[in-house]
Amino acid sequence: MTVLDGKETAKQIRKELAEKISAEKQRSGRVPGLAVILVGSDAASEIYVNSKAKACFEIGMKSVIEKKDVSLSQSELFALIEKYNHDETIHGILVQLPLPKGLNEQDVISAISPDKDVDGFHPVNTGKLVNGEDTLVPCTPAGIHELLLRYKIPTSGKHAVVVGRSNIVGKPIANILMQKKDGANCAVTVVHSAVKNIGDYTRNADILIAAIGKADFITGDMVKDGACVIDVGINRVEVAWLPKGYKVTGDVKYDEVSAKVSYITPVPGGVGPMTIAMLLSNTWKAFSKEIVS
Ligand code: GUN
Repeated sequence: MTVLDGKETAKQIRKELAEKISAEKQRSGRVPGLAVILVGSDAASEIYVNSKAKACFEIGMKSVIEKKDVSLSQSELFALIEKYNHDETIHGILVQLPLPKGLNEQDVISAISPDKDVDGFHPVNTGKLVNGEDTLVPCTPAGIHELLLRYKIPTSGKHAVVVGRSNIVGKPIANILMQKKDGANCAVTVVHSAVKNIGDYTRNADILIAAIGKADFITGDMVKDGACVIDVGINRVEVAWLPKGYKVTGDVKYDEVSAKVSYITPVPGGVGPMTIAMLLSNTWKAFSKEIVS
């Protein structure tokens, strides 16, 4: 059984990016820039946003964090996005989700220039992904694909079952895995909260992607022997005796499932670190499209 080490893999990706950025800085004096916009004061979002900025800094990228009050209007948010759409030192724009009530997420995402949409959520990028065109791909699914590639996990012709149908993970990973390319080329089944007896589907998975947002949802009896299990869940579970009062667990019951499978991602240290690495990689991609040699 191999534990897919997202922390180490992400570190390697950040090192590769740092080298490319350093070389480009020496050559042209330019570096990639990321603008992160956070509206409101959601505690978890604040932690994510700060760690995204820190990750940029560590590899020599420019980053700007815009923290705005919950009272920000949609037109003020559009104006801020428009400013960065035209800022030549900024190549990626990310609006942290979820947005406070009163702001329409889909309209806000659509206001970002598709070329700077490093989340890969803009309808133009979603459409290109479905068409199999090269584009900016959502970070968590891109991170999962990168893990499958770097660990050389056999995927071609295999059955991938995706549990969850979100725009951020379920739908894009299903699209990636069905494409005719390395680390993909799968038969793909998507199941979700309305489906009964989900185990009847997951037991047939060679590759199981758990992205349903329910702690310990995937139990040992729901997986096939020798499968590859990717756990996308980040759930806070109350544990009174811990100093923080909670622990973070995935969607997979790790002890039971890891005893049966060939590959598994841990939580934390699996998919999570890969998501930030792919955000940096997407920002590099958006930047390097502009490099004129
Ligand atoms: N909130 C949770 N995940 C994400 C993400 O990948 N991008 C953005 N913008 N917000 C999120």
